[in-house]
Amino acid sequence: MSGAGRRLAQVSGVLVVVVAAAIVVLIVVSGATGGSSASQSASVARTVPATAPVRHLPSAAERVLAAQNAGIDRVLRRTPFVVSGGGERRELALTFDDGPGPYTPKVLDVLTRLHVPATFFTVGFMIPLFHQALQRELQMGVAIGDHTEQHPMMTHLSAAGQQSQIVVQTQQLHRLGGAFPRLYRPPYGLYNAATLRILRRAGMLMVLWSTDTEDYTQPGVKAIVRAALAGAKPGAIILLHDAGGTRTQTIAALPQIVRTLRARGYMLVTVPQLMTDDPPRHVPSRLPRLAGG
Ligand code: NI
Repeated sequence: MSGAGRRLAQVSGVLVVVVAAAIVVLIVVSGATGGSSASQSASVARTVPATAPVRHLPSAAERVLAAQNAGIDRVLRRTPFVVSGGGERRELALTFDDGPGPYTPKVLDVLTRLHVPATFFTVGFMIPLFHQALQRELQMGVAIGDHTEQHPMMTHLSAAGQQSQIVVQTQQLHRLGGAFPRLYRPPYGLYNAATLRILRRAGMLMVLWSTDTEDYTQPGVKAIVRAALAGAKPGAIILLHDAGGTRTQTIAALPQIVRTLRARGYMLVTVPQLMTDDPPRHVPSRLPRLAGG
């Protein structure tokens, strides 16, 4: 072997030793890491089931909705229906029935401009016809209740017929991404024991009203404003309509109603918010008989 050959053999020998040492180190390190991650996996597996849903922190809107649903649940434990809030706070609710319809976008324009939270009791078969207005309501975060599928006189229907009227509306709402409605308003204010049984099973609160503006009769803008203001009191639930006929008078009356109520120190809230902030104190001993809605 030449000098150069010996030198190469020495270098090769050193290289073999270095590589072998490196391999040993790698094996030891990877073994240690592998053992540690395995024990971590085991401890995670003990505390979190593999099928646990991905959790996320609730948004502000979700927290408000959860609080409002809890408020409605508390009211439902005491009474199946309400005509107003408790009257302890200077809050009241504007409610709009029979939509969505051709005038709904104009109503929403006014409410948006004046920053008014409101409640809409929607009719199922109108939802696909005016789905853009309904989608806007969902985006705005207004409260949406059930006003049946076809707006019938519920007391003329069998229990099964009433059940269908209430359920099919919820399906129409669901198709557009709306949450299950926790509120129900009876068309013409008509209901009976079967209606209340169906609502109890569905977890829905029947929302009547303390003031009927009779805007559906189109009595003139001044008359609608006067009726709304005359019925204003803490906890009031005021009945208006965004569909079911020409609603130009209702739309024209709205800004004056809102501004005057605010000037009198009222805060306008949705019905779920009213039920949460200021639930009814006294449950009426007998069921009210109303016409309207
Ligand atoms: Ni109605």
